[in-house]
Amino acid sequence: MRLNLAVIYGSVRESRQGIRAACFMIRKLEERGHEVTLIDPKKHALPFLDRMYKEYEPGTAPEAMEFVGSVLKNADAFVIVSAEYNHSEPPALKNLLDHYQSEYHYKPSGIVTYSAGPFGGVRALITLRAILAELGTPSIPSVFPISAIGSAFDEQGNAIDTAYDRRVGKFLDEFEWYAHALKRARDHEVCDNELPMQQEICRGEN
Ligand SMILES: Cc1cc2nc3c(=O)[nH]c(=O)nc-3n(C[C@H](O)[C@H](O)[C@H](O)COP(=O)(O)O)c2cc1C
Repeated sequence: MRLNLAVIYGSVRESRQGIRAACFMIRKLEERGHEVTLIDPKKHALPFLDRMYKEYEPGTAPEAMEFVGSVLKNADAFVIVSAEYNHSEPPALKNLLDHYQSEYHYKPSGIVTYSAGPFGGVRALITLRAILAELGTPSIPSVFPISAIGSAFDEQGNAIDTAYDRRVGKFLDEFEWYAHALKRARDHEVCDNELPMQQEICRGEN
């Protein structure tokens, strides 16, 4: 079954390296037949958080915020591609994630981290797991850390280190399983208005 997926990338640096990892993930997901949209905080620049998306009247948020909101809302699941900055996620990624809430609910996420060094950004994935759980998009058990990001992929996102071509299959198998399972649950088992988190939001408790 074709899934609608958002790849959320987190760096806005001029010399950013991780965009290659994002391109790699997009290519691998498209090869599996999915519809994939890249959310890039450099291209879809949001202000530092003042009002969350839900605090705007429908259709009145800044253009970039409306675009990201519609991509998140239509997505079945999310792949987060994050660097490790000081053992945590980059600020542009956190800022983007924090603007939204119900758009994530009952949809899984997969965490891809990277770093220039040998540890693949694994310390950022610890903080990301907590953030994503709080947002209502629990992350799948497997993760996809990428070390030596500067030499792992070419500019088109092809793996130079071909171990990544082999490893990514198992990660995406698991990601698809959760994405399909939660999509089935959302589509067939409960109607939107019966989902507990949405009821709380409607009552202003969240
Ligand atoms: C502000 C900052 C903090 C960083 N902190 C870490 C770190 O804690 N651990 C690490 O392995 N690499 C760290 N790095 C190196 C990054 O892994 C490397 O620069 C990577 O390419 C950043 O991703 P980007 O190029 O997509 O922005 C840091 C880089 C920056 C700019």
